[in-house]
Amino acid sequence: MEQGKDQGLKGALGLAGPEACLAYYRHWAENYDQGFASEMQYLLPAHVAAAFLGSRGQGPVLDVGAGTGLLAAALRQMGFTDPVDAVDFSAAMLERAAEKGIYEGQFQADITKPLSLPRRYGGIVSSGTFTAGHVGPEALPHLLSVARPQAQFALSINRRVWTSAGFDVALADLADQKRITDLHLIEVDVYGAAAAGIDAEHAADRAAIALFRAA
Ligand SMILES: C[S@@+](CC[C@H](N)C(=O)[O-])C[C@H]1O[C@@H](n2cnc3c(N)ncnc32)[C@H](O)[C@@H]1O
Repeated sequence: MEQGKDQGLKGALGLAGPEACLAYYRHWAENYDQGFASEMQYLLPAHVAAAFLGSRGQGPVLDVGAGTGLLAAALRQMGFTDPVDAVDFSAAMLERAAEKGIYEGQFQADITKPLSLPRRYGGIVSSGTFTAGHVGPEALPHLLSVARPQAQFALSINRRVWTSAGFDVALADLADQKRITDLHLIEVDVYGAAAAGIDAEHAADRAAIALFRAA
């Protein structure tokens, strides 16, 4: 079997490097919503959307590692009407998102590299992208570079990588350097109760939603 194909969440969290990640999502895109998100009762996009709106976040919004568009869909369900753009390095995932017609702009880019996007954002959100086998804190400066002054961030960071990948230190450094303000964390469950019957190892995963503003 090709590396990562059809191994669901377990395969995704064990990915080693960007090429493996891209290859994995090429296959996973096909049944990400109906398989993984539905079966595991994937709550995280809705938690991030609620946290962003609860912080009075405004658009235009950039959804980082947008995937199939579940976070933007949650924002729309909660009544948010400002423009939302997507950035993701997987063309296959962005194709699924495009079918939903919720993003104004969709950009294929690697967020661990400097971003060249056509506008600056009043809000930057992300669910499920800062996790094992995915993206580390090296992306944070690139996201700050496309944020307007005072832009509201709401980024989920899986608790498994909070310290090991250095998110704790990276966010504290950005606050010390006064590049971000108003940093606080909300703890949430990533999955609902049904996940226990599907993947006992990850069913109880928790994430921190890092809320902060660009300076
Ligand atoms: C677990 S999915 C989350 C998708 C969506 N936000 C959600 O909550 O359903 C992680 C997403 O991050 C994207 N991704 C991983 N590494 C990336 C990178 N370096 N640059 C851009 N996107 C990346 C993947 O392509 C995938 O769509």
